[in-house]
Amino acid sequence: MFPDGVRHQGRMIQTKKLAAETAAGRALYPGFGSVPPNPAPVSSADLVNVANISVLTHHGKLLALREAGSPWDMDANDLSTRGIYSFGSDAEGVPFSAHPRIEPDGTLWNFGYVSGAGLIALWHIDASGKLVKMGAVPVSPMTMPHDFIVTAKHLVILLPPFHFKPKGGMTNFLDGHIWEPDQPTRVMVVNKNDFSKVRWFELPAQWVFHYGNGWEDGDVIHFDAARAPDPLSMIDSFREVMRGQRGKSSASHHYRYCIDLARGTANEVPMFGPGFDSEFPVIDPRISTLRNRRLVFLCASMDQPAPHPLLNGVAVWEDGGDRLTTFRYADHVMPEEHLFVAAPGSAPEEDG
Ligand SMILES: [Fe+2]
Repeated sequence: MFPDGVRHQGRMIQTKKLAAETAAGRALYPGFGSVPPNPAPVSSADLVNVANISVLTHHGKLLALREAGSPWDMDANDLSTRGIYSFGSDAEGVPFSAHPRIEPDGTLWNFGYVSGAGLIALWHIDASGKLVKMGAVPVSPMTMPHDFIVTAKHLVILLPPFHFKPKGGMTNFLDGHIWEPDQPTRVMVVNKNDFSKVRWFELPAQWVFHYGNGWEDGDVIHFDAARAPDPLSMIDSFREVMRGQRGKSSASHHYRYCIDLARGTANEVPMFGPGFDSEFPVIDPRISTLRNRRLVFLCASMDQPAPHPLLNGVAVWEDGGDRLTTFRYADHVMPEEHLFVAAPGSAPEEDG
């Protein structure tokens, strides 16, 4: 299928933060959940934008993304850093999440959260990279959405009750948030044609990093997600990993969601039985925003736990009978956030 196999090369992105700290010979600025001794003041989000969450290839560009700042423009041939990328003078410095969604025709949608201003920014970019429109929806309290859903007509953003309520002693961005499980997860549904048209729904308190896909059937929006009961992995293990420790986390399980726009309801149901952890759901990108019949995700079965703390398998779900096929990696393999690469010449969802 891929006769040349798969090769990997990596380079550090030469961000402003890395350049300044390399020149100083020490860590200068607060990170996401940590603070160095005697920190320097942070004058802009892009000064501490480490572009370390995801990469995007679009309109001939390779962009490295961090959700709290601008994309970084990379050379796709030698992975050298060109600088901060802007979609236009009106868009400079507006946060651009690390999980933009691209329709089969190349249209790109994204969001970004501006915690201090209490705004969710919205992006609509065409296949050529031209900025079509932007939007800003007030959200109070703000939270930390990582990914979102795009359907034929709507953008859907879940806002878990991990609220940005900074106190005086806040030393880093993560510490400015508080988990309030007695509060609902707000669901923001935005009209793609008119970003000022927003409807709100509620789901129980939960934490979601990643969604598989969203699609619409009449007035009903369907989507799926790896749902955790709380953001413990971020609160604890993301912090502990900076000390070389494992930390605590709550496993996520795959759920299916429905938002009925006519009835004004939102509901959720688990897709698989208990004891089957899941994360990183992906689909064949050629059917993004359309109804998917297959879903690929990383998993871990309680029956065959790994000797390491990460997931240890990959699963393929097929619609129609809810068939599930799994592959368990060897004990020395620690799978991470994977991508679906369509096999050349294959039909959508046929092979990859
Ligand atoms: Fe992610």
